[in-house]
Amino acid sequence: MVSRIMAASSSDPRTQQLLQYTPVTGTPEVKAAIRNKFKVENGLDYEDNEIIATAGAKEALAEVLRALVRYGQKVIVPTPAWVSYQEMTKLAGGTPVGVETDPQTFKLTPEKLRETLAANPDAKCLILNSPCNPTGAVYSREELQALANVLKDYPKVVVISDDIYEHIRYETTGKDGEKTPPAPYATMAQIPGMKQRTVTINGGSKVYAMTGLRIGYAAGPQKVIKAMDKVQGHSSGNPCVLSQAALTAALTGPQDFLKKWMAVLTENRDLVVGKLNDMGLACPTPDGAFYAYPSCKSLFGKITDKGKVLTCANDVAEYFLENKVLVVPGDDFGNTDRFRVSFAADYQTLTTGMAYIQAACLKLNDPKPGFQTDGKSDSFENEGLVKASARETCGTPQELPAKPSPKVLKGFSAPSAD
Ligand SMILES: Cc1ncc(COP(=O)(O)O)c(C=O)c1O
Repeated sequence: MVSRIMAASSSDPRTQQLLQYTPVTGTPEVKAAIRNKFKVENGLDYEDNEIIATAGAKEALAEVLRALVRYGQKVIVPTPAWVSYQEMTKLAGGTPVGVETDPQTFKLTPEKLRETLAANPDAKCLILNSPCNPTGAVYSREELQALANVLKDYPKVVVISDDIYEHIRYETTGKDGEKTPPAPYATMAQIPGMKQRTVTINGGSKVYAMTGLRIGYAAGPQKVIKAMDKVQGHSSGNPCVLSQAALTAALTGPQDFLKKWMAVLTENRDLVVGKLNDMGLACPTPDGAFYAYPSCKSLFGKITDKGKVLTCANDVAEYFLENKVLVVPGDDFGNTDRFRVSFAADYQTLTTGMAYIQAACLKLNDPKPGFQTDGKSDSFENEGLVKASARETCGTPQELPAKPSPKVLKGFSAPSAD
């Protein structure tokens, strides 16, 4: 970025162009770097007209939904899911359909996918996110193949594969302490027959910690990328020219720092997951991404020093915030009985944060006699004991709009690639 600015500050008018508009879908240099990344890391061949650089993976996701989804069309979102998929779908005029994943693995099963598609045969897209924010679940090649087998019967469904945490995957430690590296990364476009109906999203935010530079990219069928080009051309235009230069440098530069980062993240993960489990906040060990997603059911019914009864993840998150720790309640991801902790922080901060959470939990008073929950935070039966039902306080996790969003402009039809 700096060398581009320096080069552009010469008095030569040709170099001044270095800070001006670029092609909407990205400079030839960034496209070459993205093309090479897909080829070398994923074994996928894309032409330049099948690639678009965007202002973050977020913009790529929003654009692909705006390009593909017509008003009221369904978008399948396996939950728990990153908070923006459903909102982006609604902004695009579509209707998100939340589908519960397996409660043990947090992964969409072929059976559930088949059931969902049978109930929604007109679905337009399926969003997959592996590793997943917030659960850390990582799909194996075999699992993707099993989903692809179901999708064969629904050829109109486009898969949007959000691979933003591709490189944040952990080695596993066996009972004997032996470490096994993570399996090679698998993504839907690699599954035979799926590349022509998959749009793969990625970016610089997670793997290169370039969050503020707002640079991401997508690769997929030319028709879809062309529609995204139109959406981008009429909204933001090209992504920042300096951020494109930075992504080019990052993708083509040495990648060996990742090994060190992963060693640090592994220590962080083990610290956070270990402490949460020790506190009775049951927490699965994530295989990827940098979030822990523990249950807070064991705190429900407990009473804070201010006399508030904790009834859902929102209450728990608010209580932790009062105790100086910021976590994200699971409500927005699809669970009223979990919360998310990011461990992309330094070890000392995490140690302090965990100590604060522990102290906050120890300060809680036990539930009043007779307090009962059937394990679901939205169905308490203790009238009068719980001030408002969790449903009122926290909303219903799978509650999605029944009706498609209204048309914004009469007679206007969304740009579509089909
Ligand atoms: C699953 C997922 N997808 C996309 C994004 C957005 O990434 P970017 O910063 O590239 O817009 C995030 C950011 O947190 C994320 O967690």
